Amino acid sequence: MGTEEQGGQKTASTIAPATGKLGVMVIGLGAVATTMIAGVEAIRRGLAKPIGSLTQMGTIRLGKRTDNKSPLIKDFVPLANLNDVVFTGWDIFADNVYEAAAHAEVLDEKMLAQLKPYLEKIKPLPAVFDQYYVKRLNGTHVKKGKNKRDLADQVVADIRAFKKTVDRVVMIWCASTEIFIEPTAVHQSIEAFEKGLENNDIAIAPSQIYAYAALSEGVPFANGAPGLTVDVPAMIELSKKNAAPICGKDFKTGQTLLKTVLAPALKARLLGVSGWFSTNILGNRDGEVLDDPQSFKSKEESKLGSLEYIFQPELYPDLYKNLYHKIRINYYPPRGDDKEAWDNIDIFGWLGYPMQIKVNFLCRDSILAAPIALDLVLFLDLAKRTPSLRSIGIQEWLSFYLKSPQTAAGLYPEHDLFIQSMKLKNTLRHIMGADLITHLGLEYYD
Ligand SMILES: NC(=O)c1ccc[n+]([C@@H]2O[C@H](COP(=O)([O-])OP(=O)(O)OC[C@H]3O[C@@H](n4cnc5c(N)ncnc54)[C@H](O)[C@@H]3O)[C@@H](O)[C@H]2O)c1
Repeated sequence: MGTEEQGGQKTASTIAPATGKLGVMVIGLGAVATTMIAGVEAIRRGLAKPIGSLTQMGTIRLGKRTDNKSPLIKDFVPLANLNDVVFTGWDIFADNVYEAAAHAEVLDEKMLAQLKPYLEKIKPLPAVFDQYYVKRLNGTHVKKGKNKRDLADQVVADIRAFKKTVDRVVMIWCASTEIFIEPTAVHQSIEAFEKGLENNDIAIAPSQIYAYAALSEGVPFANGAPGLTVDVPAMIELSKKNAAPICGKDFKTGQTLLKTVLAPALKARLLGVSGWFSTNILGNRDGEVLDDPQSFKSKEESKLGSLEYIFQPELYPDLYKNLYHKIRINYYPPRGDDKEAWDNIDIFGWLGYPMQIKVNFLCRDSILAAPIALDLVLFLDLAKRTPSLRSIGIQEWLSFYLKSPQTAAGLYPEHDLFIQSMKLKNTLRHIMGADLITHLGLEYYD
């Protein structure tokens, strides 16, 4: 039970409880998705801890610092219990989740062997795929249809069949990065989009066919990749119309996570930045897909935005106007999923004296992404059950997890991780009718 401010009065509003099974439909059963699914099962069996997951391990402070009240988030808001989560998904390869996880080589053989009987039961449905949108892949396990409308109808049929076995459904895109697409007329309204499906409009990518099917069925949709997908007026309209919350784009995992921590620190202290060079080597299938210039362009756009918004060069021209920001991703097979990222940051301080910061992050891509995918799914399900969130479309409070957060038209995105974290937690306090925390704190000195 939560309360909401309405015309100055607190009125009770009910968040529907998370009873029954939550069905999670994952598009793309690759490294991230299989690491999430196997991880959830390992956690359910007590084999490992949900490290990196705010919904599972995070706490939220309520009231004054002197109240000493910081419950677990999952005890404060009604989230689906991991034991009630059921997975299914689509992929362009027919491998079951055990085979796909073994191929991804993120989790060790010993862990996978223990989970094998569960994982091998999850077999992908045939995907909506067209090589035009992901040049480096050639799928064999794909749907055939007379046009894009027919393919969307087939995804709707998949959703309806799954809905019969669970109580609620959420969808998440964990599939490969599609080529860079700019919005066109076909994306401007539901009507134009539906015509485009009939006419096989080239500006409608497979990710948008899944998203259209999900939103038409009232199913929330998260976009873990940098594609346009739900970031167009037609999808936002559909999301609001059918009370199907959306969020995107692109999981904020390694390099960008650190960027959105370091940049706010430099800006808070008014230290200037003349250059920020970010490079990566990675050898998994994602790296192979991103080796294609058109898929890389999608990723580059998504990674570039953060500094521009955090530094606000229009407000601080002396500090950031001449910032040179460069991003490189190099496909380097020997490293597999173990990405290595380097950042060289050229900064300057008092009287313009230059300094340098070097960051070398040896991370594991999917180990960082899996808890984000899980949290997004659980929070979107919460949003769908929350009267004040379910019909607003974009869930900007989930920006915390995303490299290129989707926002309302005309609104610049918040990239600073700590602002994002505060926004997320205050949203949870708000929907539960708890006092928001402003960090003013003068009351302690009365
Ligand atoms: N740290 C991270 O790992 C990270 C961070 C941000 C974003 N991402 C994004 O998440 C996505 C998944 O990353 P990954 O490392 O798991 O990649 P992956 O290549 O291991 O998995 C992607 C899977 O999607 C499948 N696929 C491609 N097109 C499809 C379609 N139309 N329908 C269904 N399946 C399709 C592929 O066959 C593959 O199994 C990528 O777009 C990646 O850029 C990952």
